[in-house]
Amino acid sequence: MKAPLPSPPRSPLVGHLGQWGINPLGVLEKGALAARASGVSTFELKLWRRALVGYSPEWNRGVLGDLETFRSRGGLSELSPYLNAGIVQTDAPEHRPQRKILNPGFTKSAMNDLHTGMATSIERSLPRGDFDAIEWASTVVRAVLSSTFLGSEVIDPVLDRWLGPMEQPLPIPFLPRPIRFRAMNVRLEAALADPPPGSLAQTFAAHGGLAEMRVALAAGYDTTAHTLAWLLAHAAQDPSLLDPSRHDSAIKETLRLYPAGWTGSRRANKDVTLDGVDIPKGELVLYSPYLTHRDPHLWDNPTAYLPERFDTGKAPAWGYLPFAAGERTCLGRHYAHLLMRTVLEAIQSQTLRFVDGDLSPRAGVTLRPAGPLHLHLSHRDPDLTHRNAPRHYAAERSVRLRATPEGAS
Ligand code: HEM
Repeated sequence: MKAPLPSPPRSPLVGHLGQWGINPLGVLEKGALAARASGVSTFELKLWRRALVGYSPEWNRGVLGDLETFRSRGGLSELSPYLNAGIVQTDAPEHRPQRKILNPGFTKSAMNDLHTGMATSIERSLPRGDFDAIEWASTVVRAVLSSTFLGSEVIDPVLDRWLGPMEQPLPIPFLPRPIRFRAMNVRLEAALADPPPGSLAQTFAAHGGLAEMRVALAAGYDTTAHTLAWLLAHAAQDPSLLDPSRHDSAIKETLRLYPAGWTGSRRANKDVTLDGVDIPKGELVLYSPYLTHRDPHLWDNPTAYLPERFDTGKAPAWGYLPFAAGERTCLGRHYAHLLMRTVLEAIQSQTLRFVDGDLSPRAGVTLRPAGPLHLHLSHRDPDLTHRNAPRHYAAERSVRLRATPEGAS
């Protein structure tokens, strides 16, 4: 007989559900500790039902690589009115042909056509002086979504209102919003009927339609905004990251340490054994980029922010999945990369300074910084160049930056 799976300490009455509601990252971290103590990388949670959580590359490959067995329907995204539609809820065998329809509009080269439009929206939204990185990142992502999807020069008010609840603490993003959704659908129907040239509405009018366009807007919003806020907070502490040669590594490391999709879920469609664990049909199965990206077996000094690890090193196979992996890999990954790179390009010749704030991760629908993140953007002081700035900033940071529980800074 196999030994029972490890599990973090739980309440006899509500299992892990109470702690999950308050601090899900803490529950995951304790689960990983319990798993490590037993020499495995899988553990069990008692939420409203049993859930199996794994974070090894083998687990990730199994869960994300087999769409027949591990289904999205019945997973956690079904609980969100924003994500309960389109490709996110499409399972095999329909998923593959549907992605074939959507993929061409989101390739790297297709995204490059959006670069100029993105740059214009970003330039227009640039802050001056003190600003909060979380608020600004949300605003600029709304502006870029409005222009690239809807061809709108300003933040579309219907989109703005529709996205609002996604920024609120749980369970607010999960509440039904029939009025906002109706208004959003009317707005998207109009864009699809007469798509602005060069906008993604044109792409969705030809391939995908309303539900896919709406789900892409939702999936792309807080994920990108929160990642961007962290990226800026780190770039403000290490101005060398504003050098174009370091943009890519900074973006990748931000996505590693703070994967917005901190956990993903599937339902097993049949009995299966994975990474030595027997999974019965119907089981809720979680993978966790958060745990995988912080696993000391996969990453040196995993809780430190070290973009240089991406300058030369390669990520471990199935050990780096900020955008998941396999056939369900994020449709908008090139879009998100481009948006963040374009923001860095827009500020690379200016001086970005960290004032104060709290970078510790908090888990809602997506991972977000505890915040606030006060930064300062100004035209470059000619005496403060990229070359001599890091030491100056490091000293300032040690005084002003509040330490995060995991030591991430
Ligand atoms: C930093 C930003 C982003 C992160 C970290 C992120 C992360 C992810 C992850 C982890 C998944 C897989 C979820 C799962 O199946 O368990 C996913 C799927 C998806 N993402 Fe993103 N995403 C980001 C930005 C975007 C953007 C900008 C868009 C659209 C423009 C987008 C659209 C989608 C869609 C449509 C799916 C579903 C794909 C499918 O099921 O086939 N995402 N994303």
